[in-house]
Amino acid sequence: MALRHVVAVSQFDRPMIEELFDEADRMRSLPADARPLAGNILATLFYEPSTRTRLSFESAMLRLGGQVISTENAREFSSAIKGESVEDTIRIVAGYSDAIVIRHYEQGAAKRAAAVSPVPIINGGDGPGEHPTQALLDFYTIRAELGRLDGLKVALVGDLRFGRAVRSLALMFGLTMDTELLFVSPGAVPMGQDVRDALAAQGVRFRDEPDLAAAMREADVIYQTRIQRERFPTQQEYQDARGIYVIDGASLADLGPEAIILHPLPRVDEITPGVDADPRAAYFRQAKNGVYLRMALLAQLLRPDE
Ligand code: CP
Repeated sequence: MALRHVVAVSQFDRPMIEELFDEADRMRSLPADARPLAGNILATLFYEPSTRTRLSFESAMLRLGGQVISTENAREFSSAIKGESVEDTIRIVAGYSDAIVIRHYEQGAAKRAAAVSPVPIINGGDGPGEHPTQALLDFYTIRAELGRLDGLKVALVGDLRFGRAVRSLALMFGLTMDTELLFVSPGAVPMGQDVRDALAAQGVRFRDEPDLAAAMREADVIYQTRIQRERFPTQQEYQDARGIYVIDGASLADLGPEAIILHPLPRVDEITPGVDADPRAAYFRQAKNGVYLRMALLAQLLRPDE
């Protein structure tokens, strides 16, 4: 894989993701004493909160024998508060590390970071833009759970406007064949025209489906997402959009026996805890897969010839 930075899903093709997923499978059984990235340092530079992305990248690096330096609230506790630009911060942190994972509140920040960085930049989420490694681990989970990536009907549910994970995931389906996407979203947060245009150009079928129960009866994959309070201009607009599409115990009667429910997490109330014990609820397995996928990604970025 000849990737230098990971900024957007458009950088990937089908052979690249299949190779990455095979490597992630191998990472599941990496011997405890194997240290392929010993001597390497990963910097995690997070200007927005995170549990999964930051800690799974750090866990991945440690499991590969590397080390980690981190600033988990860079907006407040890095020199960004003094007015330092992303570009200058990256130039400095690149001197302290061999790769940088950045999460930033501005769309396009990871691309700006990559433009000046001498070490690999990984986009851990840029505002409402993209979250490419989440989309990779989502695809990896679909392959692991269902055994295929083609010929699927996938319902994308919730905040499709501001949700960077679901935006990246939708774009990733451009690498598949015979896919149909159903967009199930409150009126205030529809899938963006930019994603629709990209999917149309790649021949991916999609349609808006306002009925969640109908989507659950049809789909192989239900991808539920949180309505993101922090992205709404006003509390009223958030309140108007939340609570419309909730998956609860009763919803499971609509779900096919082989279908799965995914969620990038965190969740608030859009999947009730009573769903968790159902074997088709795959979101906690999905989150754990993030470690193996990110191990594979780090290994390929930092040891590209092996
Ligand atoms: N899925 C995801 O990006 O979770 P975090 O915000 O906890 O990293």
